[in-house]
Amino acid sequence: MTVHIGAEQGQIAETVLMPGDPYRAEWAAKTFLDDAVCINKVRGMLGFTGTWRGNRVTIHGSGMGMPSLSIYANELIRDYGAKTLIRIGSCGGMQDAVKIRDVIIAMTATTLSTPSRGILRELNFAPCADYSLLEAAVNAAKSRETPYHVGGIYSSDVFYDERPDLNEQMVRHGTLGVEMEAAELYLVAARHKVRALAVLTVSDHLLTGEALPSEDRERSFGDMVEIALEAAFPQS
Ligand code: HPA
Repeated sequence: MTVHIGAEQGQIAETVLMPGDPYRAEWAAKTFLDDAVCINKVRGMLGFTGTWRGNRVTIHGSGMGMPSLSIYANELIRDYGAKTLIRIGSCGGMQDAVKIRDVIIAMTATTLSTPSRGILRELNFAPCADYSLLEAAVNAAKSRETPYHVGGIYSSDVFYDERPDLNEQMVRHGTLGVEMEAAELYLVAARHKVRALAVLTVSDHLLTGEALPSEDRERSFGDMVEIALEAAFPQS
């Protein structure tokens, strides 16, 4: 047990998928894993361990925002030995070519700040995905119908953003989408020499104001979960 995770040693797999929403962790575990068992409930943050095509996987919520994700990623890696962490979540689209329901595979994540800022200080370290996971996710995305994009995203500290000028620069520089967790995941993973990736579904769009109808969410999020699982366990 750690401060925030009630699992016993050995109950968490080396591969962890991390949605922001604990109920989405439950849905994904019950939908995609065999023999899923709940291994954490502390503070309502649900985690489940089961198997996918015979491979052990944990699906554990990260909460919203980088400080929350940072707590869980640190404990999963340092205390439970997680070696591959894949964020699965939603994001806001930031380019015309990026449509609602599309999948974004995040190569890099730009930020104003992260919880790791205190360590990196003045260094503008570039948080980036693990290449082997990125490549495997691209291969998985290619093999299905879901349109996908690979490139940089923006990990914001705010959902209710009061800086349209910043978003304008982000759009101008080709940023594909905005979410609130990936950059810190990439930084914590780099620090501990483990692999990380974020695979995101576009749930709303900053340029068009569109949003994914709630009845469509499950199917679209399902594609993302399968891409993440196939990236973690590519078939040779
Ligand atoms: N902003 C920040 N995070 C998000 C968004 C957004 O528009 N959509 C989904 N996650």
